[in-house]
Parts: sequence; structure tokens; C-alpha cells
Amino acid sequence: MLKFILFSCKKYFLLLIVIVCMQVHAQIIVKTAQPVSEIQPTMWGVFFEDINMGADGGVYAELVKNRSFEFFKPLMGWKIERKSFHEGEILVQNRQEKSTANPRYVRVTVNNGSRGDLGLTNEGFKGMGIKKGLRYDFSVLFRKQSGDVKLHIELVTATGEKIGETVLLPEANAGTWKKQAVSLNATATEAKGKLTIWFEGTGIIDLDMISLFPEDTWKKRPGGMRADMIQMLADMKPGFIRFPGGCIVEGFDLSQRYQWKKTIGPIEERQLIINRWNFEFAHRPAPDYFQTFGLGFFEYFQLAEDIGAEPLPILNCGMACQFNSAEVVPIDQLEPYIQDALDLIEFANGNTSTKWGKVRADLGHPNPFNLKMMGIGNENWGPQYVERLKAFTAAIKAKYPDFKLVNSSGTDPEGERFDYLNKELRDMKADIIDEHYYRTPDWFLKNASRYDSYDRHGSKVFAGEYAAQSDRTVSVSNRNNWKCALAEAAFMTGLERNAAVVNMASYAPLFAHAEGWQWTPDLIWVDNLQVYGTPNYYVQKLYATNKGTHVLSILENNKTIAGQDSLYASAAWDKTSNEIILKIANVSEKSQTRDFQLDGVKKPDTKAKWILLKNDKLDAVNSFENAVNVSPVEQTLPVDAKTKKVTLAMPPYSFSVVRIKVL
Ligand code: AHR
Repeated sequence: MLKFILFSCKKYFLLLIVIVCMQVHAQIIVKTAQPVSEIQPTMWGVFFEDINMGADGGVYAELVKNRSFEFFKPLMGWKIERKSFHEGEILVQNRQEKSTANPRYVRVTVNNGSRGDLGLTNEGFKGMGIKKGLRYDFSVLFRKQSGDVKLHIELVTATGEKIGETVLLPEANAGTWKKQAVSLNATATEAKGKLTIWFEGTGIIDLDMISLFPEDTWKKRPGGMRADMIQMLADMKPGFIRFPGGCIVEGFDLSQRYQWKKTIGPIEERQLIINRWNFEFAHRPAPDYFQTFGLGFFEYFQLAEDIGAEPLPILNCGMACQFNSAEVVPIDQLEPYIQDALDLIEFANGNTSTKWGKVRADLGHPNPFNLKMMGIGNENWGPQYVERLKAFTAAIKAKYPDFKLVNSSGTDPEGERFDYLNKELRDMKADIIDEHYYRTPDWFLKNASRYDSYDRHGSKVFAGEYAAQSDRTVSVSNRNNWKCALAEAAFMTGLERNAAVVNMASYAPLFAHAEGWQWTPDLIWVDNLQVYGTPNYYVQKLYATNKGTHVLSILENNKTIAGQDSLYASAAWDKTSNEIILKIANVSEKSQTRDFQLDGVKKPDTKAKWILLKNDKLDAVNSFENAVNVSPVEQTLPVDAKTKKVTLAMPPYSFSVVRIKVL
């Protein structure tokens, strides 16, 4: 009897093991044999705008604020240091009639001064980030008027402690403007540093373009960009970089629109304008926010080339921001705007015998930048836009028939403005239509199928600006939390699935300074010394670095996976590495397991790479203190080479990327 009982138990135990081993999970079929469409190399890119101190005070590494005294208040950012009135005088002068781009400078009169008597201190952009042991390059344009004045250059902490010093002895320059430079090393790290210049001697000297750059700029270019910020972009391997905006393209009014020709050449001749984000939001005023254009169009093209991204400049279409002045240029005066667009193509691509190709060569880039596309207008709308766009399109296509134009569909992804433009642009056979969506996470989840029904043979789509808003658009309470990033990851499966229609996509805005932002959420946050990527950054990076070349069909119960059981999925084939790439967002609070059946694969590798981004808490964020709180973790996953199956247990609130090599 006992023997029988033991035998029966063993039998049931074995049966149980068999059942456990055979446990079949719901199955997802990945059809690997027939790619659905190509994925453009441009698919995942970045959107750059000088908002939130993105350029001046951000990626443009100049540490001196108001270096040319051209802010509305000429001494904004500067403090005159003096013991008494006996030491001399520092006065703002204006040579308007001689230099319209940069009229102001300061005249320093020193009477037997010595160090500590008369000086100028610059506070930097929310202070200056100074790093111990690093070299700092100081330069100044000067004109000696009389006598001899020596400049003592000092780096100081927020509390005035000296952390670097050197001396500049202005050379003879026969009353003309001359640039002179000198370097100094920092002896300590300080996030809120300042620059002080003490004047010694007796004489009069004029100063302009007072500048300080760290040596560790991107590619060590003098007067270049912050390397840590650019590295974050390079790491994403973006397919394109859109610049210079955004609303700054349009300007508050047409006088403040972005004009690329004013942003190239010697920096002292690049005419500064107020940044429209200076006063856009009463709740986030930024009175010291100006565009110096030290980062101009030549630098943008160079940056695109450096990081292997296609350049995508956006030009003003003859209309200022329609939320602001809504100023339009009369149609019979549109010609200079169109000429700017034509000249930009020649600047980027023309050979060195052309007028603008020569300008590019003289700036140090004889080879063309290979510009293939350009945006006409940012968030413009209405018949006025269509009228102007038609004139641009006719002129550009007449000269460059294959050149692609990106057209605006306005500010929102639905509604009257969008419907009107979407129809007009499609009737015009627009190359690429730029759609923007700043919406709730829920909107992103609900819209994962947005492009499933778009015409495969019509205009292509550029998801040119998007970001899930944890509160609401332009609310200061918006956070770059995991809930938003996960919703974007889920939505992006829909962009990838529809790569036949969606050729480009970029999150917006890109950078924000922790003390100088106007708009949140933003992809990458910085302060004067540090930088961190948000959960949204890691989502973007995962897509861009796991792009693939072709879309594969991925189905559950014969349906695309766009929200059933809170799962969102897309699949791609990478013909260069012979890999199948799966992307799956599990937006539910429960773990979910699926078998992924790789249909049509002959011999998969037995190990797959699983990159997992997850957090149990939807309100989780990254920060300077915990920069990788929500960041990807890599592990391996077994692949059953016999059944060609991968089983994936997706944790709650997770985004998975799985790469399976085909041998
Ligand atoms: O990304 C911030 C702003 O949002 C952009 O400047 C504008 O195009 C949009 O309204």
C-alpha cells in the first residue's frame, strides 16, 4: 500500500514538474521574414533651442555674462569694484555710428591704481562653474587711449576667495582695437565662481568682449561648447539635430526673429538680441536672458557633423510668434526671407566658388555639410502660413528639386488649426509635416495607434516636439517622472511601428539649467558643473541606440500590441548587425510574462541582450544626487534555439529592449 502511495505521489510530482515546465504563456508572434517597411536613419533625433539657458549660460561654454555690454542694462551681470572715487572711473560708451552690431564698450580710467582699488566683477550665468586644476582662457578686446594699465585677472569663489589669478599686460596697439588672451589655472572647484579684473597703473583703456572659457570644451575647441552636455547628445547617437528652435525662430516680433546670417563670423560682430524666453512667462522671468549667438549656425552644422546627426535648420517663414505679436511680413516683401533659405542651402552645400560656399570655407569648413532638409516656420498656422509656405516651396524646389522641406502643422496635434493645415499641406504634397504634442501621459498611451491609419503614400511625419506633461503644458509643476517617460516609451512603439509614415521624432525641450529654466519638463538637466539625464532621456537613448533598419510585424492574437493588457510593443530588424530588436512597455502595476515566437528565423543565438528600464514608483525621477535612479540595466536572456522562442517576464512599470542575434 505504502509503495502504491509513494508511486502515486511520485507520478503526480512528475506531472506537476511537466506542467510547470510546459507552462505556456500568452504568445506574441514576431514575423521576421517579411519586413514591413524601412526605418529611416533619421528616425530618432534631438531638438535644440536656446530655452532654459540651453545655449547662453548652458551648452555655449562662455562663462562671462553680458561680455559685450549689449544687454538693455549695459552693466547687467557686472559690478564695479572701487575703494573710492579717487581711483578712477568705469564708464559705458557707445560707438553706435561705427559698430551697429556691437556698439557698447567700457572705458576704464585709472589714477595710480593698484590691485584692489578699481575693478570689474562678472557674476557669470547663475555663477561660473570652475573646476580645480583646469585651465581657463581669458580674452579681451582692448584699445589703449593713454598711459599704461595692467589687468589682474582673478577667479574667485562666491564668498570672494581667490582660486586663480594671472596678469594681462595690454600690448601697444596704436589706438586700434586688439584682442589679447591669457590663461590661468583654477586651484579649487566652485559652482558659483566669479571673475574679477583689477586695474593697476595710470591711464585710459577701452574694453569689450571680455570673455572666459574653460579649456575642456567639446573637442577642445577654443570658444566652444560644454563637453559634458554635448557628450550626452553624442551618446544618444541622434539621427538628426533640429535647431535653433522652437519659438525663438519666430521671435516675439519679426525684429527678434532668428536670422542665421547674423550668427556666423567673428563673435564680436554677431549682433545680440533679447531671448524671447526672457519675458515670455511672467511666472518665470529671466531678465538677463539674451542670445549672443556665440553658438551660431556654423557651430550648429559642425555639431551635427561631430555627432553624426543630419542637420535640420528651421527658418522663419515671414511670421512672428502667433501667441505674441503675430506680426507677418507682407507677401510682396517676403523675398529676403526666401533668399535667406536659398542662401543657407548654398552656405551648407555650395562649392567654394559660390558666394556662401566660400563663406563656409573661410570659416574653416571647405567641405559641404550635406544639408538635405530644412523647416519653413516653427509653430505657424492659418492661411497666412500656407500663403508664405507656398512661396518658399516654389522658390526652393525650383532651385533644389530634391531638397526636403518640413512644414508646420501648428501647435497642437488635433483641432481646427491642425485639421485645416493637415489637409492643406497634404493637398500641397508636403514632404514632411511637423506635428507637436505636449500632452498628458494618458494622451500618449491612447495615441499609440495614432499613425496606424495614416496614408502610407502621402506626406511623411516629423514628430518634431513632444513630451508627456505630468501636470499640464507650461505648468511649473511638470516633472520628468517615470510615469511620463514610460508613457512616451509606450507611444514611441507606435512611432516605430509606423516608420513608413513617421520619419523623424524628437523630444522637446532638450536642455534646462536647474536655476535658469522657463519650461519644464526637459530631457537633460544641468547646473554649472553637472549634468544628468532624465528617465525620458534614457527612453530616447534606448530608442536611438536600438533603432534597427526595418520594421517587423509583432502581433498578439493577430493584433498590433497597442494597449491590450497595458502592453505596447514594436519590433525591428537591424540588417547591419543581423539582430531582431524588440521593444515592449508594460505600463501596468503587475508583472507580465509573454513568449515571443520568432517566426521565420533559422538560427537564433541562444543568448539575447535584455536592456531593462523600470521603477516601481511612477513618480520616480533622476536628480543631480541620484542621476541614475531610473536608468537602464543590461542582462542576458536565454533563447530557445529549437522552438525559436524567448520568454520575457516584464516587471511592473517597465520598458524592455531585447536584442536577439540571428546566426
Ligand atoms: O519646446 C518649447 C516650445 O514649445 C517651443 O519653443 C515651441 O515650438 C513649442 O511651443
